[in-house]
Amino acid sequence: MDKKITIAIDGFSSTGKSTLAKQLAKHLGYVYVDTGAMYRAVTFFAMQNGYINIDSFDKETLINSLPSIKLQFKFNADFGFAEMYLNDVNVEKEIRTIEVSNFVSKVAEVSEVRAKLVEQQKEMGKDKGIVMDGRDIGTVVFPDAELKIFMTAGADTRAQRRFDELQEKGDSVTYEEVLKNVEERDYIDTHRKDSPLVMAEDAIEIDNSHLTREEQFKVVLDLVDEVVKTL
Ligand code: DC
Repeated sequence: MDKKITIAIDGFSSTGKSTLAKQLAKHLGYVYVDTGAMYRAVTFFAMQNGYINIDSFDKETLINSLPSIKLQFKFNADFGFAEMYLNDVNVEKEIRTIEVSNFVSKVAEVSEVRAKLVEQQKEMGKDKGIVMDGRDIGTVVFPDAELKIFMTAGADTRAQRRFDELQEKGDSVTYEEVLKNVEERDYIDTHRKDSPLVMAEDAIEIDNSHLTREEQFKVVLDLVDEVVKTL
């Protein structure tokens, strides 16, 4: 497959977007970019500096500090994928906690944050050969992507998957907490003013509630083949 395309994968939280995107990138020899990690890293930065906590969110100070936030993905050969670095520190583990998940939608609502990250994402994809996952990839970041996938699954299925993942990592969280977080994020992600989560008109919807990883991968790989044939 010589012609490289841009693959945009959007959808609700915990629909397995990153699992699919990683599988595809590995198979196709493409770059994988997890844009959620970028929003999580900015959120972690805000938490570390006390700009956001359970009672308050100092948006203005976060906006003013945006120029001092450096985000980079660095490839980790041991895992076979890139990890998130915030100002030269590996924060891959720190950005996956339930605390970050609880605040991230608020940070992702801030237009100045979105503008900074979208600009960086467009730059990363300018040579194609990229699989990017997020909420606004097919609508805002790469409206001209050759293939757009929109992933969905029931909130309970997604909460169970996320709960299993967190438990495996030793996070002492309850299923109810995770479900609440998933539902709250769905609400904020779909109702925010700037770039709300919507399916692009030309996206293909995949509900993976009842699909195995392998079945889903096969469906999407066939779609990639179809698109590449038309180029
Ligand atoms: O994919 P994720 O759950 O790691 O994303 C974390 C949060 O970041 C999610 O609640 C919404 C936000 N996000 C976004 O607004 N736009 C993106 N392109 C990616 C993530």
